[in-house]
Parts: sequence; structure tokens; C-alpha cells
Amino acid sequence: MPLTDAAAEVVLDEAFRVGPVPRRLFGSFVEHMGRCVYGGIHEPGHGTADEDGFRRDVLELAGELGASVVRYPGGNFVSGYRWEDGVGPRGDRPVRLDRAWKAVETNQVGTDEFLRWVRRLGAEPMLAVNLGTRGMQEACELLEYCNHPGGTAWSDLRIRNGAREPHDVRLWCLGNEMDGPWQMGHKTAAEYGRVAAEAARGMRRLDPRIELVACGSSHSRMPTFGAWEAEVLEHTYDLVDYVSLHAYYQEHDGDAASFLASAVDMDHMIDAVVATADAVGARRRSRKKIKLSFDEWNVWYQSRFGGEDSLEFADTRALIEDDYSALDAVVVGNLLLALLRHSDRVAIACQAQLVNVIAPIRTEPGGPAWRQSIFDPFALTARHARGDVLQAAVTSPMLPTGRYGDVAQLDATATLAPAPDPSLDPAVPDPAGAALSVFLVNRSPDAPLRTSVRLPRGRWVPVGHLGIAAGEPRVNSAADPDAVRVRYQELPAMRDGVVQVELPAASWSLLRFAEPADRER
Ligand code: AHR
Repeated sequence: MPLTDAAAEVVLDEAFRVGPVPRRLFGSFVEHMGRCVYGGIHEPGHGTADEDGFRRDVLELAGELGASVVRYPGGNFVSGYRWEDGVGPRGDRPVRLDRAWKAVETNQVGTDEFLRWVRRLGAEPMLAVNLGTRGMQEACELLEYCNHPGGTAWSDLRIRNGAREPHDVRLWCLGNEMDGPWQMGHKTAAEYGRVAAEAARGMRRLDPRIELVACGSSHSRMPTFGAWEAEVLEHTYDLVDYVSLHAYYQEHDGDAASFLASAVDMDHMIDAVVATADAVGARRRSRKKIKLSFDEWNVWYQSRFGGEDSLEFADTRALIEDDYSALDAVVVGNLLLALLRHSDRVAIACQAQLVNVIAPIRTEPGGPAWRQSIFDPFALTARHARGDVLQAAVTSPMLPTGRYGDVAQLDATATLAPAPDPSLDPAVPDPAGAALSVFLVNRSPDAPLRTSVRLPRGRWVPVGHLGIAAGEPRVNSAADPDAVRVRYQELPAMRDGVVQVELPAASWSLLRFAEPADRER
């Protein structure tokens, strides 16, 4: 029976918990591609540059974004990369051709600089090894360089290069998108499975504390999707912790309804990979569960990019610097809901990428850095999704879409934390009390949605309502950096533990509630 006269409703109960919010869900990605590294995080001549040449203004924005993990150095770039080129005195580093993005790679930023930068950010590094043009030997040597304390050629080289203490990198990707014919050293699932298993065995022997990610499919439309994961995991099941997923979304031919339903596709992809991994586990009579690393996801207008073959070799230049609208921000916000509701299996996720290249942060050479529209939903979710994810029971009108059939117009996820973190959330009245965050998305391109939310039992007080709705297709720029931002809204009306809100068409909202410390239970 409906709780109110609202067209859609959400029921939350603290008994229905998916699991703790994994902090690694709010990861990002820095690839040697376009202006992500050079001219993005790194610009030695810039007014804010530190002693390594990294822009402090970009570092500050990356901190505000809440990036918890940063994957590096690729992406397609890693599959032709010689990591040794990027360590040691900068003057001695070779200049090479990067065949992935047809660029001249100066190697002025490499493993040591990146690791110093990521630690300064307060985030965890996730390094990828080259299993395209290289193999187990080079992967093990990089691991030894990074993590072995000293007394061997590779670890002593790190010490000579200025890093006395081991970098202690725990997260390692075994290659990148090895199923894709565009990848340097592209392999069949059987070939990759064998190489990944060999590399994993060697790397684990060097450092048993590492966590390993096997490559899954490059996207769910790959002809080998499913079969690839099954075969790769047959080879690597006992040796890896995660299998990767990648997905990019865009609006096709003005079909905003399908674009707004992109999270439905992400949900399906996650469910399919979980089922495939569990089927392999069942066949092997294994009690182990493989987790998922969604280590590339975002909105990317791929149809505007002519592809690698359209490029000529060049020095650093702008590549796929998509300008994002409020509509894109709503979709990004919704993709985060899909990741959160699967947090029992998706343990890591990296938005691709961090700066300039399909990124929440943009820079101008010698000029300012600013937030794109997609920055706020990410930063606010990273900040306010705390404690446990609650499974939301949603009753919603259905919407027809060209790509995904009928989808629920309303999407919702919530998180419940026993105590808010006052350093993250100064607006909370009682820092010892509980915090509830409710994330809502109205996927209709043109119709608002009256929605009621039944909160879990307790004495909840509304503390904030933030939202963004698609409207004019405006974008942020150096001249107008705040044109498209999430805005504070009127606090929702509450009665008997039920909140009523009118969600604008094509909108993302975050409702925040707090409860005093002497919780009624
Ligand atoms: O993020 C851009 C590219 O997209 C990455 O290099 C690759 O892994 C993916 O296809």
C-alpha cells in the first residue's frame, strides 16, 4: 500500500544492509595520455608547481574530489611502457614514442614521482604492469623496485633514486584491456590467462601482501564478454583477488532517456561478471569469492574521438577533453549509485580519468584549474556515503528507453553511518550521532517526480539537500568555472519519518539527515 500520494516511494530500513561502503570505490585514474599527466597534474613552470613540478592547485582539487585510490600509468599506455625509462635522474631518461596514443613520451614523470604525488594526495596507488609487450619478469622487477626493502639491484636502485623506504604498493593490475585488438600485445583469453597467472605467481612470491586484478572485458559489448572472464579466471582464480570491468557511457543521437538509464547497464554488467566469476568458483568447488574492480568508468563521448588511427605522433596535446553538462553530472551521480548498491562485490572503482582527459578537473597551461560539472556528484558521494550501504526498496513508475527497454524512473541508494565525521561534515548538529545519506535520481528527461522516502526508525533531522538537474546544456570553463554546480535546495518536508520531495526532471539529489547521539532503538 502506498505511504503517501507520491508517484514514487523509497523505503529504508537499517536491517537491510548491503555492507560497508568500500573507501576504494572513490578511486580515480591518471594515465600518460593527452594532458592528464603533462599539463594536468604536472606542469613545472606553473605558478603553483611544487619541487617535483606538480601543480598544487590540481592536487588540492583532487583532494576535494576525495579520490581514495589512483590507478597509474595506464590504460592502453601501459601495454607498451618500459617502467625503467621513468626512474632515475630526469636528464638521463629516454624520450620514446608511445604507440598507444601516438605521443612523444619524455618520461619526466615516472613511478617515483607518481608515488610521491599520490601519497601527498593522501590516496592509495594502484599500479598496472605491462603484460602486452612485456611479461612476468618485468612485472616482478617493478614490484621488487617498489616494495623490496633493499640489498638487491632493483631495490637499491630505488634507494639511490631517493626512496629509502619501500613504496609498499598493495594494488596491482595485471595489464590493461588485453581482450581489445587495439591493445599493444592483445591476447586471446587463453594466452592472457596463462601470462597473468605466471605474473601473479611470481609477484606473490616476491610480496604475498599484494592484491591482484586480472583484466576482464574492455566493455560489455565485446564479442567475448563473459567467455573472456570465465576463461581468464579458470587460469587465475586462486591467484588473483579481483577481475576488472570498464564501461563508458554517452548520449547517442539525442536519446537522453537511454543515456539517463546508463546505470541500468552498469548494474547488468556487474551482475553478469559476478555470476560468471561465481560459476567458475562453483566449478572449482572454491569457497573463495572474486571481487570486482570497476577500474575505468565515466561518461565519455567516444563518438567525437576519431580513434588512435586518426592521430599523428605529436608532443603533449589535448586528447578527449570532453566538456561536461549537468545531464552528464546526473548520469555520473547515478553510476555511483550502481557502484554503491553492489558494494558487497565491487570493492574498487576508478573514474577515468582525473585531469583534462574525460575528467572532473580541467586545467589551462599557466592558468587556472577548475571543476567540471561531474566533479560535485563524485565529491559529495565520496564525502557523504559513509558507514553501511542500505538496500533501498523502490516503487517507481517505469520509463520506456530505446536501449534498455522499460526502466524504473526513480533510482535510490542510501548509506547509514553510526557517527558522522565532523571534519568531513561540519553541518551535522551532533557529531556523536548517526548520519544518513539518501541518494536519489529521477531518470525522466522531462517529467518531475514527487517522491516519498520512509527513513529508517529513529529521530532524524534533515541537515542538507543538494541537487543538480539537467537544463541548459552549459559547461564550466576557465572564464565561468561555477556555471554548472550542485546547489543547496530547500530542506525536505518531513512527517512521521516520511520525507516528501519533488525531484526535477533529469536530476540527482542527496538528502542528508542526522540523529542525536542518544539514538532511540
Ligand atoms: O581512459 C581512456 C582509455 O580507455 C584507456 O587508456 C583504456 O584502458 C580505455 O579503453
